[in-house]
This record gives sequence, C-alpha cells and structure tokens, in this order.
Amino acid sequence: MSDEKTFYITTPIYYVNDVPHVGNASTTIVSDVMARFMRLKGRKVIFATGTDENGPKVLEAARERGKDPQTFTDEIAAQFKDIWGKLNISYDDFIRTTEERHIRVVQEFLSRLIASGDVYKGTYAGWYCLSDETFFAASEVTDNLCPNPECRKPLKWVEEENYFFRLSRYTDRLKRHIEENPEFLTPEVRRNEVLRFIEGGLRDASISRSGYGWGIPVREDPQQVVYVWFDALLNYLTVTGWPEDAEKYNQTWPPDVEFMAKDIFVRFHSTLWPAMLMALDLPLPKRLFGHGFWTIEGEKISKSKGNAVPPATLARQLADISGAEVDVCVDAIRYFVMRELPVSSDSDFSMQGLIRRFNADLANDLGNLLNRNLQMLTRYFEGVVPQQSPPDSEIRDLAAQICCEVEEAFESLQFPQALAALWRFIARMNKYADEKAPWVLAREGKIEDLANVLYTALESVRIAAVGVAPFMPTVAKIIWHQLGIEEALSGQVWDRAAVWGGLKAGTRVRDVAPIFPRITAKETPRKEETPAVNEPAGETPYISFDEFKKLDLRTGQIKSAEKVAGADKLLKLSVDIGSEVRTVVAGIAQYYAPDALIDKTVVLIVNLAPAKIRGVESQGMLLAADVGGEAILLMPDRDVPPGSKVR
Ligand code: MSP
Repeated sequence: MSDEKTFYITTPIYYVNDVPHVGNASTTIVSDVMARFMRLKGRKVIFATGTDENGPKVLEAARERGKDPQTFTDEIAAQFKDIWGKLNISYDDFIRTTEERHIRVVQEFLSRLIASGDVYKGTYAGWYCLSDETFFAASEVTDNLCPNPECRKPLKWVEEENYFFRLSRYTDRLKRHIEENPEFLTPEVRRNEVLRFIEGGLRDASISRSGYGWGIPVREDPQQVVYVWFDALLNYLTVTGWPEDAEKYNQTWPPDVEFMAKDIFVRFHSTLWPAMLMALDLPLPKRLFGHGFWTIEGEKISKSKGNAVPPATLARQLADISGAEVDVCVDAIRYFVMRELPVSSDSDFSMQGLIRRFNADLANDLGNLLNRNLQMLTRYFEGVVPQQSPPDSEIRDLAAQICCEVEEAFESLQFPQALAALWRFIARMNKYADEKAPWVLAREGKIEDLANVLYTALESVRIAAVGVAPFMPTVAKIIWHQLGIEEALSGQVWDRAAVWGGLKAGTRVRDVAPIFPRITAKETPRKEETPAVNEPAGETPYISFDEFKKLDLRTGQIKSAEKVAGADKLLKLSVDIGSEVRTVVAGIAQYYAPDALIDKTVVLIVNLAPAKIRGVESQGMLLAADVGGEAILLMPDRDVPPGSKVR
C-alpha cells in the first residue's frame, strides 16, 4: 500500500477578490466527494484547494477596500477556510500563492525554462482583461470588450517588454496527447472545444508583466512580475513538494484528477498548463474535468445581482424553513449540487429546486426508508436487530450491483449517475417494505418472516449509508449512529460495503428520530421571498374570461408511462383524450412510479403548442398541485370519460 501512488485531487485556486458562492463551492464539493470516495476505497489521498492571491485584480480589490494586499488576502483566505469548514470540505492542503514555498517553485520553474530557451524576452502589444487576467490577440477582439461571453468587461491595451513562453512549440504534441488519451479531458464537448482551440493555432504566451507591484518577481529580472496564470497553475506542483521534496513529489505527482468549470478549462488548464509541464518533461495530470456553470434562479451569479450568496448562508436558510439541523442542510446542498451538477451544459440552483430535492429524495426516500424500518424494529423487536435468516438473494445481489454502478460512476466522473444508482436502491427498498408489509406479518405472528424482512431492510440502510457518506458525511454519520453500529463509519472500506451481513444481530438502535422534516407548502418561501433572488415582487395578474376560454382543458386516461432515457425527472406518457392518444412528457418521475399511473384519469391542457423535450414531442401538459415543490396530479373524484371538457 505504501508504494501505491497517493491519489491527488485539486480544485482551482480561487481569486481572493470575493468569498465563495454556490459556483466555486460546487467545484470544491465535487472534489471533496471524490476525495472522500477514494479514501473509502482505501487510497491515500491528497486533496488540495487554495487561493490565488497575486496579480493586479487582487491588488485592485484590496485598494478598493482601503487595505494593503497582504492583510486583505490574509483575511479572505481565512474566510475561505472558514466557509470550506462549514461545508465539511476535507482538504489536506490549502495552498496560498503568496506563500514562500510557492514563490520558490514559481521562480525555480521559470529559471529552468529561461535556461532551456523555452522562455525568452520580447515585446508584447495586445489586449488584456483584468477581470479574467487574460491576454487576447487583436484578432479575437471585436469591440474592445473581453471576448469571453461570461465576462464582456472593457479591455486594456498593453504594450511592454515581457517574458514569453514558447507555447506555439507544443501545438502538435498537445494535440497528439489529447487524441491519444481520450480520458485526459472530460466531458467530451469540452475536449472537442480544446481541440478546435488548438487547431486554431497557439501563439507564444506572455508570462510576465513589467513593473507591476503585486506578484512573484522573476528571479533573473526583478523588474518583471510573473503573470498571474503562469504562477497560479504551478500551485498544483507546489503542493507535491517539487522540486525539494523528491519523495513526496514522486509519491504524489501527477494529479489524478483536476476539477474546474468550463471558464478556465480550454485556454489555461488544457493548453497552457500541459505545455508548461511538457517543457520541463514532467508528467501531465491524468484527467481534467471541466463542469458547466450554475445560474441562480435562472440568473448569472454576480455580486451586483446580489445572488453570490455563500452556501453556508443558504444552508442556514434551509434549516430555518425545514427545522433540520444546519449540518444536515449543508449535506442537502451538497446532495443537490452533486445530483444536479452541470456537466456538458449548465444547471440552475434555486431554493424551490433545493426544497423539491429535500422533500422528494431526502425526506420521502432516504429519510422514510430509515424511519419506517427503525420504528418497526423498535415496535416489534424492542430496537434490537434480529438474527438474519438466509439473505434475500434479490436484494443482496441488487446491493452488490448498485455498489458496482456507484464505483463505475466515480471512475467515469459521472457523479449524478452515482446518486441515481443509490436512489434506485433506496426506492427499491421502500417498495420492498410496502410489498412485504411487516405490519401484516406482525399481526399474523409470522415472527421469523418479520425478522428477515426487517433485517434485510436495515442491512440495506447500512449499505446505503456507506454509499451516501462521500456525498453527505453528516447524514451518513447520523444514520450510522441511529443504526447503533459500534465500528466507526470512517473505518469502513468501500469494497466490503456490499458484503451482506455487516449489520450484526443484537445491535441496538439508538436515538431514533427523523433527520429530514418534510417542508410543507406553508414553510416554502414564495418565489419573491426566496433567498438570493432579485425579482420584483408582484401579484399574478388577472386574465379575462376570454383569455381563460383559450385554454382547452380536458380529462385524459393514462395508457402507458415510462421513464425518459437520461432524464431522471421525466416520464413519457400516452394519454387517451377521447378523440386521440397524445404523448405527454411530464416532470413527475420523482413522485410517481410509471406503473402506478396506468388507467388513472388526469387533467391536461390539450392546446398547448407542442414542444420537444429530450427529443420527445410533448403534445400537452398535465395539471398538478405544487405542494412544497412536489407535483401532485389533479384527478377527478369519480369516473369521467376521457376527453371531457374541464371548465
Ligand atoms: N484563480 C483562477 C483559477 C486558477 S487555478 C490555477 C480563477 N479563480 S475563480 O475564483 O474565478 O474561480 C473560477 C472557478 O470557480 C471556476 O472554474 C469554477 O470552478 C468555479 N466557478 C465560479 N463560478 C461558477 C459558476 N457560476 N458555476 C460553476 N462554477 C463556477 O479562475
């Protein structure tokens, strides 16, 4: 084990011009979940995060607040650590680019490149974006505004003597590396973007600024300060002790996976960074993962919109609404972020969405599974786990298969799929309790069967707890505690998680209590009260009777229902509306099992313009009550023929 490579995971190091919001927290949460999973796998892990503290942007932010840059960066770095602590981020190293160890690495790296001829002095004339700390070629700029669509701030024309890195020299090697190592860049869409960017031709990169105050001086030419991106990328090397601590470096380098979002994926991490490493013949990171962007309540995250709320504040708000512990709410946010993680495209973070997941996945599914089984154990066996009879092979095999799926999802960095697999197991086990009806077994005195059913259910809860632990460490610990298992959860090993029989007969459950109180509609903030939204409050406007008459509402009978592939919220339904059978795609998969809908009569709008949803044309929309984010279908209280008009 000791000669096995340390699994090395990195987040971007964040600019200290502001404290973290849901956006940067999500990258850190993803990295943390990966780190926790690899520790569970028994690997030694170094999970590094940190702050990017040099450069004109930080200097400007410090000046705006009337502080000297070092005091300013000390304060914000401390706030980052505090917020990561509140989000239960288990980082092993927190790297700050103003640290001595990092300054030495940057200077040494650059000296070696100057010596090898890969860095040379030249004159730079071009556009610079302070906000993105990025140089742009004149050909990329059309209107003196930053060409990055996420930025669009005014550019500054810069003309000065700089050091240049011979990036152009690495064009072919880079392209070859990407093509020969399909795992290097994930997801696929961004890999293609990188290839297109490289094929467009790489120019040598300016890697210093002249006479600029806040940054790392070039050792050979102290009038020059190292360009902040060249400096920042090297943080990943600093963490490994390069070049001074050869043992640590050999044990740790290269990173097994580096996480970030799409904004810094193409130009910096997939191009400049690997070329820098190639120039010193250092191995490249094994994988780079560039997820999509979050919006909040449909809006871009920005300070001026007032929606750049620290996630710990959101957790407190959720705790106020739900009555759950703040740490449980932190886990709910971690769950939401991982379940809805934007990968190829972007995702929206909304309080309504969070509440929906809280109620449906956490309170109804996971919470219910735990509660009902612990309560039955308390009622029928005085809270002591009974002896198991021969295991139910269907459930035992399913548990093993789910654990394989979770592991595969981690290997391919498909985090929402890992959770989807775990929730399939949880759903199956809730259905298992319904099917086996332990209360009937108890009534009929079938004690052995009752013991077997409860053992099977609780053993499944144990396995689910290990599975959710990387995502929701606090919740997993509470479940573990309630199950009464003596061995520490932290001592569990993933490869043994699904070995049936981990829960020992005679174990006494303890402190049984619901973890996720269901949020009712009354407690749900109305949209205009939702934290982090900046929308004008307003009443729903009146509509005229004529406008209402335009809606063609009818009853319909559901003839078939199935999940839409690749979309865990959607069901595809065939609905008989008397005159014809319509296909309707409805976002109700979390609330209704497809089979339970067959022959049900529902209400739908039949003259809504058809829309393509996930490649399926939806020819109508079902009406449902929104209760705390949960969709409850409207159904007539007696038989009505399909196609009856609803007025
Ligand atoms: N300092 C550089 C990174 C240097 S790494 C060698 C930087 N810092 S940053 O503070 O701007 O952080 C950018 C990163 O924050 C993104 O790549 C992403 O990980 C995260 N995010 C910031 N806003 C985000 C969203 N709205 N959505 C998702 N992630 C976001 O760039």
